[in-house]
Amino acid sequence: MDGIDIRESLPGDQGAVLALYPRAFPEEELRPTVAALLDETDGVISLVALSGDLVVGHIVFTDCNVEDSDRRIALLGPLCVDPGHQRKGIGQALISEGIARMDARGVAHVCVLGDPNYYGRSGFLPERGISTPCPIPEKWRDAWQSVSKGEGESRPKGRMIVPAPWRNPTLWSD
Ligand SMILES: CC(C)(COP(=O)(O)OP(=O)(O)OC[C@H]1O[C@@H](n2cnc3c(N)ncnc32)[C@H](O)[C@@H]1OP(=O)(O)O)[C@@H](O)C(=O)NCCC(=O)NCCS
Repeated sequence: MDGIDIRESLPGDQGAVLALYPRAFPEEELRPTVAALLDETDGVISLVALSGDLVVGHIVFTDCNVEDSDRRIALLGPLCVDPGHQRKGIGQALISEGIARMDARGVAHVCVLGDPNYYGRSGFLPERGISTPCPIPEKWRDAWQSVSKGEGESRPKGRMIVPAPWRNPTLWSD
């Protein structure tokens, strides 16, 4: 992608990252969740997309567990791209970079709750074996999706166990 760099976010990026969210999600307040995720020192990959010095996109991957299992899986979210820089491939680039980095940490299975029309472009398919950490509305059943990097491995099954910032039922309901 011309002129766009992706790197892990630094503590000094926090203000710019938090400023993106009300622009991309005018009807949803995600800043407390994002701030809490950025405070998690272990188990979170936070990537920014930069146009020059400007933060124009952000994504978080959280390293999670499966109940009664030693399997690790990741939760993707949130993801946002500044409205002035959307439809240039930044969102998809952040997704694939994060999946590759999670894979390098040994986490090959990544789940997301999001629009299947969008995440399907990055290979996500409806997830049936892993259940969400909090209940989701039935109409969102196909919005709970996953992608697996590892080939031929048996798929993880069970309830996803998440760190505190994700244990908020309002994040999982409409
Ligand atoms: C969704 C979002 C991250 C996409 O970022 P982006 O950098 O514009 O995405 P990409 O350039 O990789 O892909 C753009 C393509 O996806 C499409 N797209 C974007 N949102 C979509 C959606 N919800 N459903 C289907 N397609 C979607 C665009 O129309 C575009 O397709 P086109 O180029 O064929 O017209 C960005 O629009 C955004 O931040 N939106 C507001 C917040 C949000 O909804 N975040 C997702 C949380 S689950």
